[in-house]
Amino acid sequence: MKVYNFSAGPSMLPEEVKLSVQKDFLDYQGSGMSVTEMSHRSKWYDAIHMEALALLRELLNVPDNYEILFVQGGASQQFDAIPLNLLQKGRADYVVTGNFSGKAEKAARKYGDIQIAASSKDKTFTYIPENVTFRDDIDYVHITQNNTIFGTRYTDRTFPKTDATIVADHSSNILSEVIDVNKYGLIYAGAQKNIAPAGVTIVIVRKDLIGKEMSICPTMLAYKTQADANSLYNTPPCFSIYMAMLVFRHLKKLGGVKAIQQINEYKAKLLYDFIDGSALFTNPVNALDRSIMNVPFVTGDDELNAKFVKEAEKAGLVSLKGHKLVGGMRASIYNAMPVEGVKALIEFMKKFELENK
Ligand SMILES: Cc1ncc(COP(=O)(O)O)c(C=O)c1O
Repeated sequence: MKVYNFSAGPSMLPEEVKLSVQKDFLDYQGSGMSVTEMSHRSKWYDAIHMEALALLRELLNVPDNYEILFVQGGASQQFDAIPLNLLQKGRADYVVTGNFSGKAEKAARKYGDIQIAASSKDKTFTYIPENVTFRDDIDYVHITQNNTIFGTRYTDRTFPKTDATIVADHSSNILSEVIDVNKYGLIYAGAQKNIAPAGVTIVIVRKDLIGKEMSICPTMLAYKTQADANSLYNTPPCFSIYMAMLVFRHLKKLGGVKAIQQINEYKAKLLYDFIDGSALFTNPVNALDRSIMNVPFVTGDDELNAKFVKEAEKAGLVSLKGHKLVGGMRASIYNAMPVEGVKALIEFMKKFELENK
């Protein structure tokens, strides 16, 4: 059965990539083995690893003074790894714009003088705070670029105006839009939304920030450990990196991040325009701060929301139930969600609206 999967993560992957995995699964390029079975020191895996690193650098235009690291532990492990590696003066400011930024701030509190510079909790995280002031003499400012649960995102308008190093969680927006890596000291992202199955976590970090970890920093969390070993200090999540490499190739063939950004903006506009014109569905987010990846929406009636999710599933539109913190529905429309998937959702919403007036 063919479905459109609107899950917030793990989420859809390009069909072309899955077919390629299927074709090569039992015998990867004449090795007689699956990538799941081969040594991470083998020539086949080495080629995958190097190509994945090089393609990600090319796609995001990562300058030479940044390392790209493939680590494990998910984005959540970075909530601790970041302060352990970056706190020198012992002070950092966090902007809390949702659940994950809150978790990041809470984890960091164990290691230094951490302050919440601004929060959008007062309006249930439906906006991004603007013109935030930060303390002097801090090691970094932490933001979550795209809020997976509440459906907000940073744009140029809200991006922190500060000379401090900016650290950003890009878990739910990496490779969805063009970014200028130079604006950040560190970017991190779990793979399981726009990149690959869960397993690998991406860390893009400016080289001068590496090697200054606290003495209590576990060896495996120190960026220097993986930077010195080209992310092969220990066994990496080989299969996740292999699939990431295929997704990077696929994205390059499509025309790179600029091309996918146009498609993503188009998909998001279709959906928001429909919701804004609807008499039944609403999106609670400040229009200027709306995510182009995660679109929450509600009917205002819990029973009707539940009915919508159930009927949508029957129509092949799956994983539309909103996060438990928000309720209602959420459509995650990452890179691999085709335009047809968004159009199918809109058609279904139209029909549902007519039937449930
Ligand atoms: C923005 C954001 N940060 C962090 C996380 C946690 O990621 P992980 O499950 O890789 O630890 C998620 C997961 O959905 C997320 O959306």
